[in-house]
Amino acid sequence: MTTKQFIQALEEEFQQQQYGQSPVELYEPIRYLMSLGGKRLRPLMTLMSTALFTDEWQKAIKPATAVEVFHNFTLMHDDIMDKAPLRRGKPTVHAKWNDNTAILSGDVMLVQAYELMLFVEDKNLKKALKRFNRTAAEVCEGQQFDMNFETRENVTEEEYIEMIRLKTSVLLGFALELGGIIGGASDKTCQTLYDLGINIGLGFQLKDDVLDVYGDPVKFGKQVGGDIISNKKTYMLIEALSSATGETKAQLEHWLSLKDFDPAEKVNAVRGIYDQLGIRQLAEAKINEYFEKAFDLLDSLKVEAERKAELRAFANILIDREV
Ligand code: IPE
Ligand code: IPE
Ligand code: MG
Ligand code: MG
Ligand code: MG
Repeated sequence: MTTKQFIQALEEEFQQQQYGQSPVELYEPIRYLMSLGGKRLRPLMTLMSTALFTDEWQKAIKPATAVEVFHNFTLMHDDIMDKAPLRRGKPTVHAKWNDNTAILSGDVMLVQAYELMLFVEDKNLKKALKRFNRTAAEVCEGQQFDMNFETRENVTEEEYIEMIRLKTSVLLGFALELGGIIGGASDKTCQTLYDLGINIGLGFQLKDDVLDVYGDPVKFGKQVGGDIISNKKTYMLIEALSSATGETKAQLEHWLSLKDFDPAEKVNAVRGIYDQLGIRQLAEAKINEYFEKAFDLLDSLKVEAERKAELRAFANILIDREV
């Protein structure tokens, strides 16, 4: 199977997925967000991972959609927390409807994700659910650290990496691990798949943070500059704070301390400081490091090289993504 065929199979699955009818105010936002698409990376990772071990990849399709529904639930709530106006080039659910709608529709999506996870074969179900539970709790932990860090001044690079490991990477790790579980891989192999997903995830979130500052708003589909506006302690901000000196440092700290500001002005000023300090290059180097680690882990996986080719190409595309 090629990646293209997996994407096709997933789209067909999402098109026939039923989320619920009444009350329409609860279910319409779910159909709305799910129909905006997105890259569908996580379910694709589950299918590609399953296909490393078996040709019966179809048995992973519903569990793969569970991972995507869960991801979309986190986005619906994340957009409330981040006060984000745009998602996938369209208004976010809380902006189009309201916060309460986004909270409750998100809640029921979480339930639906669990419902879809029940399609894992009985012999593997308990293991899959146990790992899914752990992952889901960790995503919440990461999201809380992310919020805590907005108002903390002295966040270290280590703390940032741990925060993104939790909020983002564990789900990519789980997406690959789930394919291993469904495909009947050994515990050791499942662990390697998980670690591989973690490293892709760290590179992926670092890249997301770079695109939040430097992305093309049309391609990116989210508000560019949102992280700067809300003082997110990204790798870039942490590096800028530690390498800036004199007037530049004073300027940066000034912008971080302002309660009332023009958003576009703040974004331009902070981006200008990043440019001056060469922060983007630092972040890109860090991204490459994590993807290198991911490729090493993929190499170490005891599966025929031929079966690994799609996953390798997939990871390569993520390094240079603009969306
Ligand atoms: C967005 O994830 C949230 C992050 C972890 C950065 P994606 O970039 O995978 O979003 P979609 O699903 O493709 O829209
Ligand atoms: C989101 O991180 C991670 C989760 C949704 C759990 P971000 O807040 O950076 O994601 P985007 O940029 O809004 O997609
Ligand atoms: Mg967020
Ligand atoms: Mg966000
Ligand atoms: Mg982001």
